Formats: sequence, structure tokens, C-alpha cells
Amino acid sequence: MKLAARAGRIIPSPTLAITATAKAMAAQGIDVIDFASGEPDFDTPEPVKAAAEAAIRAGFTKYTPSSGIDELRTTIVEKLQAELGLRYDPSQILVSCGAKHSLYNLAEALFEAGDEVLIPAPFWVSYRDQLLLNDATPVLLETREDEGYAIHPDELERHITPRTKAIIVNSPCNPTGATYDRATLEGIATVALRRDLVIISDEIYDKIVYDGVRHCSIATLGQDVAARTVIINGVSKAYAMTGWRIGYAAGPKSLITAMANIQSQSTSNPCSISQKAAVAALRLDDAFTARMVAEFDRRRRVMVERLNKMPGVSCRIPTGAFYAFPNISRLFTRRWKRGAITSASDLATYLLEEAKVAVVPGEPFGSSAHIRLSYATGMDAILRGLDRMETALQHLD
Ligand SMILES: Cc1ncc(COP(=O)(O)O)c(C=O)c1O
Repeated sequence: MKLAARAGRIIPSPTLAITATAKAMAAQGIDVIDFASGEPDFDTPEPVKAAAEAAIRAGFTKYTPSSGIDELRTTIVEKLQAELGLRYDPSQILVSCGAKHSLYNLAEALFEAGDEVLIPAPFWVSYRDQLLLNDATPVLLETREDEGYAIHPDELERHITPRTKAIIVNSPCNPTGATYDRATLEGIATVALRRDLVIISDEIYDKIVYDGVRHCSIATLGQDVAARTVIINGVSKAYAMTGWRIGYAAGPKSLITAMANIQSQSTSNPCSISQKAAVAALRLDDAFTARMVAEFDRRRRVMVERLNKMPGVSCRIPTGAFYAFPNISRLFTRRWKRGAITSASDLATYLLEEAKVAVVPGEPFGSSAHIRLSYATGMDAILRGLDRMETALQHLD
């Protein structure tokens, strides 16, 4: 069967693939430690589950308006007003099946062949593939680890051509854990205004920040900036609701309407029960997320400190999200039974086979010098996994 060319342009999500391998190994009775999966190990808060149960009992199990129920869209409007001081009309909000789906709807609505989209690298894996699926060209903007992955406006400017249509901003960032301060965002916004770029601001980790960092949304930098920004967010990470699949986009009405039309012809509404659960989540006070972030913070410190003590490994302290992104390039040329380690993928294979530790290699994030470890897993597993990793690295020739 001859498949569409677009299907051949992309790879399956590597993070989901490694997580699936780790789960399959565990199902075979292998004691594998999973640092690959990008989801909180916390349980969804009880009031959220109760809201979902109530929705089921009340028979709220039918189609809803395709763009999401009014109650949820209004709750999102209220959140954006309360937390960011931004004013949206509910018609500027589209609720989708996870932030990934929001981003996909956006790519379909906005891009066509020849459009270039700037992605600061390292970047979250799906940005590139979603663009490729929609005939757009991802243009990577390399950032430097020793500069905290900062984006320089002049560098940004150099990557812009007459075909550049948008830039993706992801703060806090998966995989680097970097957060952009206001000055950095102002630099990006200034270029975006001057060069007429749409700003896609993926803020899914907005609540997961450390060391006193306060999340700053680029859309808050002025009405002219907000008018060209689409905020992407959802409940997956902040409320430990990855399986419920609720994300949303907030942005200019014409774009949101186009995205809503696409959604109405593809998936229809996101799950009715999950929408009720998301209303409950967004109305929670900060206690649940604060507790979870405090625990992530404890694990973050332990993980980064241990990684920095390992031979050939160096790791910046992340200020957001829940990933450590150590540089492992000093291990290149070290050998094991299958030959030399020459890339992050080689090291990930070695760690999985020899140490039974699943990590994500940096290549799909745009770096072959790094691996990504999630610390959204229990402290006990973190300590055991790091012990194993350390031993395995000591055994390299
Ligand atoms: C940067 C980033 N954006 C978006 C998503 C998608 O989140 P979801 O589809 O679960 O809402 C993820 C998930 O890992 C992510 O890391």
C-alpha cells in the first residue's frame, strides 16, 4: 500500500516509545527504572476525580460543543485573567484533547507549504514533527547550555527569512528545564513585532518552577504582543492529569475559530467527563500543585547533585518543568561490549540494557550531547536508578 508522503516524514514520539519499552520490560518481570516518561507520579486530586464521578452519574456523557463546554472555557478565561492579567472572550479559547492536540490544531490552521517556523533548540519533540506533518519547515535556533539556553534577539533575527511565519516559545522548557525571564521574552517579542511573527507560547509547565522563579507569559508584555500570541496550556502537568487529555489554546479570534473548525471536523469535543474534571482542577487552590512542586524540587536537587558527581556527566540545575538534562558528551569514545559510545542514543541503549534504566536520548530534542531524565518519579526509584547509572558508567572501558 502506498502511504501519504507526510506519514513518512515523521517518527513516532520517542519519549512515548521509550516509556512503552520500559513498561514492556517491567511487564516481563524486569526491574527497570523509568526516567523517560514525562508525567507526574502524583495521583489526580480527589476533588477532580469527584467532579468526574459526578459527571458520569449525572449522565454528562454525551457530545458537548466541539470547542469545549462554556463552563470550562469561562474558567480558563478567569484563570488567564487572575494569573496573567489577560482578558479573553470565551470565543478566543479552544479546549482540545491535550496541549499536544491544541498545538496540532494550531499547526493545521496556521501553516502551509513553504512556511518556516523558528524553534529554539533543544526543543520538545513534537513541535518539529507536527510542523512536518503540516508541510511547514522547522528552522532550529541553536541555544547554548553555558548561557542557560538563552535566546539572543540578534541571533533570532538572523534566522528570519521572508517565509518565517512563527516562533515557538516554551518556558519552562522541556527538555532543558530552562525558564525565560522577562528581558529574554521582551527581546523575542520585539523581534516578533518587527518581523510580523506569530508567537506560539507553550506554557504547559507554568506552575512547575523553582528557586523563586515566577512564570512570565510573553503575552503579558503588551496588547500588541498578546494580539499575535497563542498561549497553549492544559491540566496534564500541573494537576497530574496526563491521562484525562485536556489542553487549551487562547489567542486571536480568527485563528482560534479556524482551529475550532478543524477540531469540529476531526475529533469533535474532548471527553465530556474530563472537561468537568478540568473545571474542578482549574478551580482548586494552589495547595495540590505547591505540594507536588515542593516534592519535585527535593528530587531535582538530589538528582542534579548525584548526576554532577558521575564521571563524564555535567548537569545544569533546571529552574522549571521536571527534567534533568545532563551533558554526557565527555563519555563519548568510552566503550562497552557493543562498541564505542558515540552519541546520546548509544548511551541510552547502554543504560537500558546494562543498568535497566530508561532515559531519553537527546537527539530527538535536537542535542546528541544530552540525555533527559524525568524526576517526576518517586525518590526511592530515583536513588536506585542513579545508583545503577553510576555503576554502569564506572564500568565503561
Ligand atoms: C512542552 C510540552 N508541551 C506540550 C505537551 C503536551 O501535553 P498534553 O498533551 O499532555 O497536554 C507536553 C507533554 O509532554 C510538553 O512537554
